[in-house]
Amino acid sequence: IFLVGFAAANEEFSLENKTHHAQYRGSQVLRVRNATESIRNLLKSLEGEKAIEIWKQSNVFGKFTDILVPSFTLSFVRQQFENLNATFRVMIADVESAMHEQIAIAPRRQSNKNKKSRSYNLTFQRYHRISDIYAYLEYLVSKFPSICSIETIGTTIQGREIKVLKISGSNAKFGFYIEGGIHAREWVSPASVAYIVRELVEYRSKNSFAENADYYVSPVANPDGYEFTHTNSRLWRKNRRDSTDKSCPGVDLNRNYGYQWGGLGASRQSCDETFAGENSFSEPETQAVRDFLTKIGPSVQAYVAFHSYGQYILYPYGYDKVLAPDSAVLQKLGARIARNIKKASKKKYKVGNSAILLYEASGGADDWAKGSVGIKYTYTIELRDAGRYGFLLPASQIEATGKDAFIAIKTITQEIAGIG
Ligand code: ARG
Ligand code: ZN
Repeated sequence: IFLVGFAAANEEFSLENKTHHAQYRGSQVLRVRNATESIRNLLKSLEGEKAIEIWKQSNVFGKFTDILVPSFTLSFVRQQFENLNATFRVMIADVESAMHEQIAIAPRRQSNKNKKSRSYNLTFQRYHRISDIYAYLEYLVSKFPSICSIETIGTTIQGREIKVLKISGSNAKFGFYIEGGIHAREWVSPASVAYIVRELVEYRSKNSFAENADYYVSPVANPDGYEFTHTNSRLWRKNRRDSTDKSCPGVDLNRNYGYQWGGLGASRQSCDETFAGENSFSEPETQAVRDFLTKIGPSVQAYVAFHSYGQYILYPYGYDKVLAPDSAVLQKLGARIARNIKKASKKKYKVGNSAILLYEASGGADDWAKGSVGIKYTYTIELRDAGRYGFLLPASQIEATGKDAFIAIKTITQEIAGIG
């Protein structure tokens, strides 16, 4: 049994090796205005030469693309922008410092007098390793055995378990699948999904809407990648599949699903960040979700995948600018989610079709959930922030971001149950 305060002060956190962050010393994140065709082409060729990495893509003219520029290409890249009169803004002046800032422990709101003894380490004051997240799920099963159970739906390439927590409703009329952490570096996603779990289980009495559904919650859909961002490379996105030539590991799991696989916005090259894999469902992580959802079957009516960053509520399809016949329903409910979040936190989330609002990207979990499984209420939600820190969102914003995510789950549940 650890005390709350003890858990944060002690443990491997402070000893953890963060020297890998040093590779980002002097790197910057720039926001470039996508004003002309030549700027767009420049960004493409710089990415191809690995002179920059894309953080947030935009295909829309007049909108922005966020890029990470390593220190050794910084003056070259800035010069290229000046040559084309491209306007850009420095979002993060030193990426290494932002990484260190991010792992600082956020101050606790409640006083130390209120701390309870407990058997797990998870907090919402800092980001946690997968072992802490899983230990919290196990704790919930032992404390609330009548509503919580865990199923291991598969095993990753490196042998880690992929766990799903089921939270059973006493009056469940439908299933609701919640996915977090498919992209390794989007740390606020697993943290927010854990926050949702706490609301649905520990604070259940004030969240009675939850009795209407059975929730299936997968907080870390890409365990190998997630751990790799803690131990080796903070900005890793894909899983840890070895490539055939060993030089470029990793498949983008959100390009590996089998609905319109291998089309726009997905790469056939293993070195690319959006590598779709050798085949659809070539990865154990996506196979696990496919097999599990196929097994639990048509009772599931909602699928929400949490990503970061940008503050978007996106609905299918993403493989191309194609709308589902019921997209007006998804737009309307999405707008309601955004309104509810804005009321609670003042934060603005944009709502729209993901290919139109963001960019085309095929092989996503959401497209498969909607197009192949037939899950009506399917969304991908890009959580905070709007770009100030991007993937390196400080731990002080975990709770507020978790609240945004929870509002989305609550709003969708109320809509389907007809109680909103
Ligand atoms: N940022 C997410 C990604 O790039 C958006 C996914 C939206 N869904 C889609 N099927 N394209 O994976
Ligand atoms: Zn993502």
